[in-house]
Amino acid sequence: MKPNYHYQDVAETYLFSNIAKKVSAYVAEHPDKNVFRLGIGDVTLPLAPAVIKAMHEAVDEMSKKETFKGYGPEQGYAFLRESIQAYYARRGIQLALDEIFVSDGAKSDCGNILDLFDTDNSVLVPDPVYPVYVDTNVMAGRKISYMQATAENGFLPMPDESLKADIIYICSPNNPTGASYNKTQLKAWVDFAIQNDSVILYDAAYECFVETDAVRSIFEIEGARNCAIELCSFSKTAGFTGTRCGYTIVPCELVRGGMSLRKMWLRRQTTKFNGVSYIVQKGAAAVFSEEGEKQIKENLAYYKENAKLIANCMDECGIAYTGGKNSPYIWLQCPSGMTSWEFFDYLLNEIQVVGTPGSGFGKNGEGFFRLTSFGSRETTLEACDRLKKLLKK
Ligand code: MLT
Repeated sequence: MKPNYHYQDVAETYLFSNIAKKVSAYVAEHPDKNVFRLGIGDVTLPLAPAVIKAMHEAVDEMSKKETFKGYGPEQGYAFLRESIQAYYARRGIQLALDEIFVSDGAKSDCGNILDLFDTDNSVLVPDPVYPVYVDTNVMAGRKISYMQATAENGFLPMPDESLKADIIYICSPNNPTGASYNKTQLKAWVDFAIQNDSVILYDAAYECFVETDAVRSIFEIEGARNCAIELCSFSKTAGFTGTRCGYTIVPCELVRGGMSLRKMWLRRQTTKFNGVSYIVQKGAAAVFSEEGEKQIKENLAYYKENAKLIANCMDECGIAYTGGKNSPYIWLQCPSGMTSWEFFDYLLNEIQVVGTPGSGFGKNGEGFFRLTSFGSRETTLEACDRLKKLLKK
């Protein structure tokens, strides 16, 4: 048996597992210290009451012979896909029901969607980047090239001839930098993709944080139906990081080499996936109820306030950053020329604040650091206090 040798080319541990291991080791050595975790973008508020109510009702349905459910449709129950369809329609985007595929989250779909592409395809990702885009392609042996996201271009690289690739990843609002593309900028990417017969994999996991004229869905852009797939998630929108639910949109018009990618994805999912549990899908559909939307907005406002607190803290410390607006992440420049991991150790040892070292997201992330606004208000306030005491000049 010959293993997949491409696994030798990925880092031995996933970035966030590595950080968790380091923090656990610190806690074991310093059991008396309180650690303030603003590293992984994991939510801390409980699920909204409307979601919990719907899940309880679904559990009751599962307990009775007349309402019990076995296997569901692999692409998701119609009631949830209709809710997602209506959510897009409220923003002026028309989707057909069979273009919407419910899944257990955007991270899994990000990896699984690559089944549709030949391993010979070239891949373009931003640097810095959500490590899943890179690792999943390296595991498949694809060739990756990078577009440079730097302070000079506001962490929003734009297309040029040297960036031609078959598969293009765009994440906006961006993880990790928090930067968001506007319509004009995304139109340039869509035109570029159409010109070169590329497919854009658009990660919209953070769309619910958009408050300005930044784009929330690639399908707001004319032409995107011919060149883009959108991946989205209930994780950040509605606190489903532990519950697991997301969705992917593959438009009918997306055809390459005479093959419909939507039909291929349907074929792939019906073969390799048995759908998300009925209980979770009922909970996810409640996110779009009037009550659910109101409650979710309150939770998002809480995280947005945390983001503001961290951004204000950076202002007070005189530290340059992006994000915080339209995004739950604050992407900051490490002070005093420290590397990302030096700053990580410094904050952990001195004030027990955990963030994510920018270099974990790529070469351009070196010298940067990411803080998340998904912590509790208490953790965020205490972390900001400690940061100010340590870093304010
Ligand atoms: C992150 O911290 O970047 C995210 O939580 C990762 C994810 O959504 O998988």
